[in-house]
Amino acid sequence: MTNITLLLCCLTSALALQGDLKQILKSPKATLKLYNGFKSRQGIQHDSPSEDRLRFGLFRKNAQFVADANSVTADSALYGLNFFSAMTSEEQGTYLGLNATGRSPNPPPALTTSEDVIPDSTMWVNKAAVTQVKDQGSCGSSWSFAVVGAIETRYQQLSGRLRNLAEQELLDCVYWFNGGCKGGWMSDAYDWIIEFDGTLSATSEYPYTGKDSWCKVSNTYNALRSHKIVRARSVPQGEAANIAALAQGSLAVSIEVTDHFKYYLSGILRDETCSGDVNHGAVAVGYTRDYILVKNSWSHLWGEDGFVKLARGHHNCGLYQYSSYPEFEETGKMDNGESDAATEYRVDDILPEPTPTPTIPEPTQAEVTTPQPSPAPTPDPECRDKATNCERDNLCQYPSQAETWCAKYCKFCDSEPTPNPTPVTNPNPTPDPEPLCYDKATNCVRDSLCDFPDLAETWCTKQCGYC
Ligand SMILES: *[C@@H]1O[C@H](CO)[C@@H](O)[C@H](O)[C@H]1NC(C)=O
Repeated sequence: MTNITLLLCCLTSALALQGDLKQILKSPKATLKLYNGFKSRQGIQHDSPSEDRLRFGLFRKNAQFVADANSVTADSALYGLNFFSAMTSEEQGTYLGLNATGRSPNPPPALTTSEDVIPDSTMWVNKAAVTQVKDQGSCGSSWSFAVVGAIETRYQQLSGRLRNLAEQELLDCVYWFNGGCKGGWMSDAYDWIIEFDGTLSATSEYPYTGKDSWCKVSNTYNALRSHKIVRARSVPQGEAANIAALAQGSLAVSIEVTDHFKYYLSGILRDETCSGDVNHGAVAVGYTRDYILVKNSWSHLWGEDGFVKLARGHHNCGLYQYSSYPEFEETGKMDNGESDAATEYRVDDILPEPTPTPTIPEPTQAEVTTPQPSPAPTPDPECRDKATNCERDNLCQYPSQAETWCAKYCKFCDSEPTPNPTPVTNPNPTPDPEPLCYDKATNCVRDSLCDFPDLAETWCTKQCGYC
């Protein structure tokens, strides 16, 4: 089902290992042999026999967790031994570093995007727009990797240049020796970048050390040549809004890391064990109909070459609560240098052809009790409501979202300069010719429904020219 070409070698041996793991753990001698093999593969050496005994105890306990998790048949994800396997949970905790204390989740309403055609699949890793997987080490700097990952992909989309950008600059400068390795927050990172004229260093100029240090920026250290960051956007909560934003570019996301997440090896993770609060930052870099692809910062030795597939139609332990991305403006300069290396990780985003079925927006609980709003014709394409629930959910109370999604309903149209000036007011406004001619389906274009006349006449009246 999943494309694991790149991982085939490693997965095959891992799979064999997982199959035997339960048996091995029944025998102390075999477990010790496994532990010694694990240590040499991980390059671990312990100073004292007492530490080695302690680590062996942790290893046996963590390996038992992996064996048990893999024997749950309803869970299709695969778990494996990795660098966490001989650590205490306190030590494991130092690899996270999202401090959500006092932070409010993004605006709650899930915007219905029925008029937007969102592709079934978008994979930024397949477009050379994602840098190689990085390693935060035992520093709680995941917040900086989340923000930098979102910047890297979005800058590549605008400039055509993939830049490996410096998490260490954020680590040193955002909290000024107040412990960026103890955890941070995405909006603090954006704020700092915007204050510093929307620039960020390249990793080659400002290498990652994984330790708090003093801030060493200067104006010569800027890898964002052609576009600078001018603001950060929060993505409204919920899968639909996150997918819509991810179709446009990568996102800085948050998640709650559980033991299942720590030992994730492959497949689609549908974690049912989280308990509440997000504690880790990462980058969403693509989606299919089945999963969201997230790039982690625990090196390529973790997960699927450093990535994790999180199930669609699942809460994914807070994944959709705090997503964000940067917005840029042109600087007027050119970025002519060579791109930095992109990840070689690829996923198969070619999906089987769906049988065309019209999708009409599912009535939600709220809609059942209120009359269905009739889709209004949109006379001015420059100013329209992309969301269909502007009024129902009173979305004008979230100005930054409303400007994009409910421009018309929330009256942003007049203040917006229109790029193509249109004739001002028509003294003799012609009445709307066919107010009842609209498309009941939202996938008329996406699925070429005009090719199916019996469907099209009913569902895609406008698009297919039946009006
Ligand atoms: C987490 O953030 C809160 C609020 O900003 C702060 O008071 C607290 O010290 C932070 N925790 C750590 C470990 O830095």
